[in-house]
Amino acid sequence: MKYTFFLSLWLLGACGGVTKQEKVASASQVKSTAVDIDYLKVGDEITNTSQAALLKEISWALSKKGNEGAVGHCNLKAVALVDSLSDANQCEIRRVSDKYRNPNDKAQNTVETKALQIFLEKHSKQEALKPFTLQEGENTYYFKPIMLGMETCLSCHGIPQQDIQPATLNTIRRLYPNDLAVGYKLKDFRGMWVVKW
Ligand code: HEC
Repeated sequence: MKYTFFLSLWLLGACGGVTKQEKVASASQVKSTAVDIDYLKVGDEITNTSQAALLKEISWALSKKGNEGAVGHCNLKAVALVDSLSDANQCEIRRVSDKYRNPNDKAQNTVETKALQIFLEKHSKQEALKPFTLQEGENTYYFKPIMLGMETCLSCHGIPQQDIQPATLNTIRRLYPNDLAVGYKLKDFRGMWVVKW
């Protein structure tokens, strides 16, 4: 009887010890996972998925509502998936451009300005643009170029009157009086995806 009592105490003590060790181990695992996140890979996945969803939204709107009616749909807010992606990955997802239509899409800090400059400079030298990451204090940023890759983009970002129909242009100018995002040609650098953790 006594023997069983002491044995139980010893077992309890041993288990307590193991639990503590496990706690320490899992805490350091969490820490090392946070450090080991492959931001380039996760950023690629997030922006590929967002871009596909946005393209689907734009094509749907163009076919159902025409160019003018689709103007509001080249917008991350029109794509619920982007919201859930940023929740799930605890990150911010934006598009940033030097020639922005929505003033919220201008570079908002020195890291974004620097990334835009890197892409613009490489593009002017006709170098290939690849995604990259930058660390700024506690934050990690992922950047990916957005090229003007499809004819459809020109109907709202191309040359006014020539590519952009007058009614569409009027709507754009009414909604975005200081619009800079026109005059693009195919294969131009249009801006970048930014994912910030
Ligand atoms: C039907 C019109 C329309 C089409 C087609 C369109 N866009 Fe847009 N685009 C807009 C509008 C309007 C905004 C501003 C959205 C906002 O307020 O967030 C915008 C914003 C953007 C932005 C964010 C930067 C900025 O200027 O504010 C990028 C990048 C962009 N478009 C790229 C493209 C690309 C690439 C395509 C082709 C796949 C495309 N757009 C097709 C209307 C369009």
